[in-house]
Amino acid sequence: MNKILVLGAYGTVGTALVQALQAQGQAVAKATSRTSQGAEQVHLNLLTGEGLATAFSGVDRAFLLSPPGHVNQDELLCPVIQAARQHGLKKVVLMSAMGADADEAAPLRKAERLLEASGLAWNVIRPNWFMQNFNSYWLHGILNQGAILLPTGTARGSFIDARDIADVAAALLTGHAHDNLAFDLTGPQALDHTQVAAILSQETGRAIGYQDITPEAMRAGLLGAGLPAPYVEFMLLILGFFKAGYAERTTDAVQQITGRAPRSLQQYARDYRGSWLA
Ligand SMILES: NC(=O)c1ccc[n+]([C@@H]2O[C@H](COP(=O)([O-])OP(=O)(O)OC[C@H]3O[C@@H](n4cnc5c(N)ncnc54)[C@H](OP(=O)(O)O)[C@@H]3O)[C@@H](O)[C@H]2O)c1
Repeated sequence: MNKILVLGAYGTVGTALVQALQAQGQAVAKATSRTSQGAEQVHLNLLTGEGLATAFSGVDRAFLLSPPGHVNQDELLCPVIQAARQHGLKKVVLMSAMGADADEAAPLRKAERLLEASGLAWNVIRPNWFMQNFNSYWLHGILNQGAILLPTGTARGSFIDARDIADVAAALLTGHAHDNLAFDLTGPQALDHTQVAAILSQETGRAIGYQDITPEAMRAGLLGAGLPAPYVEFMLLILGFFKAGYAERTTDAVQQITGRAPRSLQQYARDYRGSWLA
């Protein structure tokens, strides 16, 4: 009974978190909404609740996130938080998003509040925009038009490497020094998308630029990629927050929790170089 349940275990943060925990010798239960196969896997579908009754068996700590694509994050997360409370877990770390606490009525904030009031030892981590978006969500524009295409003007973001989020989560799940605190997680510096494009160009030797597109063009692109309309509107809302400067702040939380500085965008671009050379 000393296993850590990781939601989104096959996703961007979860994959790195599982690696970090296993490197420390921790036993991990990898949650997946797909049909589970391996002994380490646990079937859990947040949309249907399937698997929730058994997901915590043998588990004493958990990392929770809401899968992207949904705007009702509280409805997905609150049943899991309630189940964690029933099982009396020793620690729950919830990954939310920077800015989620700006509105007490926001769905992610509601989930945060339920965890904070649970009586369990908890942490909420609120990362800023991930660096890894440049090799996933924004990759199509980079490969096909040679540009990061976003409606964010000249605003800057203190992008964070998902591997640093994972390292923070691993430290919080395996220690109690920071119990019952929320942390905004950022990279080391704020960069605008022209600066990001210049770094990607430098690391790949390819000409990559930044094009400031209209929200309407962004909406058409996201809908065209098959994203559900409510989620597209949510994305446009938070991209508007980025443009307004809300993603510029930096914090020292990664340093404070892991004892080392967060990775730079240069380091990220070097490590993911192959993504933009396909
Ligand atoms: N990207 C950013 O810039 C950013 C910034 C701040 C916060 N965030 C937050 O980060 C979270 C996403 O993290 P991520 O990028 O690491 O995730 P991700 O790579 O998109 O992976 C999401 C995971 O969720 C699982 N999943 C999908 N549907 C599910 C369901 N119905 N029930 C249970 N699991 C399901 C998937 O695994 P299976 O297919 O195996 O089930 C997948 O591994 C979101 O909550 C988002 O708000 C993102």
